[in-house]
Amino acid sequence: MYLGLDLGTSGLRAILTDEAGRVLAEAEAAFDVSHPHPGWSEQDPADWVRACETVVAEVRAYAPDAFGALKGIGLSGQMHGATLIDTNDAVLRPCILWNDTRSIDEAAALDATPGMHEITGNIVFPGFTAPKLAWVAKHEPEIFAKVAKVLLPKDYLRLWLTGEYISDMSDSAGTAWLDVGKRDWSSEALTHGGMRRDQMPELVEGSAPGGTLRDSLRSAWGLTAPVIVAGGAGDNAAAACGIGALGEGSGFVSLGTSGVLMTGRDRYAPDPASAVHSFCHAVPDRWYQMGVILAATDSLNWLARTLGENPADLSGALPETATGPSSLRFLPYLSGERTPHNDSTIRGAFIGLDVAMDRTDLTRAVMEGVAFALRDSLTALQGTGARFDTLLAVGGGARSRFWLTTLATTLNLPLSLPAGSELGAAMGAARLAICAVTGASPDAVMTPPATAEVIDPDASLTASYDAAYARYRAAYPALKHLE
Ligand code: XUL
Repeated sequence: MYLGLDLGTSGLRAILTDEAGRVLAEAEAAFDVSHPHPGWSEQDPADWVRACETVVAEVRAYAPDAFGALKGIGLSGQMHGATLIDTNDAVLRPCILWNDTRSIDEAAALDATPGMHEITGNIVFPGFTAPKLAWVAKHEPEIFAKVAKVLLPKDYLRLWLTGEYISDMSDSAGTAWLDVGKRDWSSEALTHGGMRRDQMPELVEGSAPGGTLRDSLRSAWGLTAPVIVAGGAGDNAAAACGIGALGEGSGFVSLGTSGVLMTGRDRYAPDPASAVHSFCHAVPDRWYQMGVILAATDSLNWLARTLGENPADLSGALPETATGPSSLRFLPYLSGERTPHNDSTIRGAFIGLDVAMDRTDLTRAVMEGVAFALRDSLTALQGTGARFDTLLAVGGGARSRFWLTTLATTLNLPLSLPAGSELGAAMGAARLAICAVTGASPDAVMTPPATAEVIDPDASLTASYDAAYARYRAAYPALKHLE
């Protein structure tokens, strides 16, 4: 039996699976994000540990015999967070999360440092780990002086589970301290960031063993045999493992809070200038690339909140399929944007409001704006030679047929809807645990799900969406000019 743990931003999800990946039990525990200042986003790592105790107790209670046969644990986690610990493993301050923007200046300075793009393969975004430590060095020097190790969120949970300082390649690729091509810490990038190698955890591949469950937890949880903890993965790499998106041409588009367009790569082909993220995959010798937009369903949720509605009612009022672009343009930069603009100060806009328009027109424009933003990511990814032979649509927004048909036609790519419900990062984490324990090859374990349905682009509408996309593209420079 295998436990997949996905440490998200709003909670921890656990699934217990057998070796064939069948789900026997699941549990979820929520925790809060605190925003002590505008742009700050923090969490108390003790909440993650409490959530882990809660979900394990629930899974144990639901499937005691299966849990008793646990052989491996896989970890997936929200990326980029900086958990700082001292020489006694005490947490020095709240974890600074991936969506915290306090270190804009430090990120810009590191990003401009010669060599950083070549080593890390990425822009140093303010959300990444290295600029957060530069901020702590400047604003909290007494804390910075005590930092013995920096751990990503899921690796702090691993420390609690195993007592070991270990990370995996996919998550570490988002720190801006890793040589993403060589899959090793870069002494040069660490020096630029004011850090030392001894402050970094040991590195393993995501599908390899990365620690063993502590004896005290093993007996507290009623387990007799040793339990291996796999290297695990950052959440997007884990999600890709969950749906079998490993190699060249195999990708997904996620309409979650943020939007992600991702594809597996057999080779390392970074292109920092396009603000594409190029990270190590969770399995050896593979990478993945993604475009990230910061507000996908977040844009729809914002609109619903503002109108005093709920998002499902707003999308329910739209026609079943897209019938052509609207004249109203929406730019979804509600929290700034990563791909392709790398712009944390830009903000969103509606352009072309008409007195005859109502909430349905606004909803439609929001969905179209998100689709156009993802097309920007597609263009950026294709510029690196990335292919999209199969593209699975996942995330809460994929429940809207109107959104999916808009997206398929805007991207001019068929979208596959997976059959089955448990396909997320927790499943990817469980699959990494299966590989780490059994030594099975990732390609054999991480197979794609059956396709429930394919949403094809509407060839009669692609030209009109192309024209609307061109109008969307023209809006960003104009908006920037007005700032
Ligand atoms: C990836 C990213 C998010 C976080 C939170 O670069 O910032 O996907 O991992 O989920």
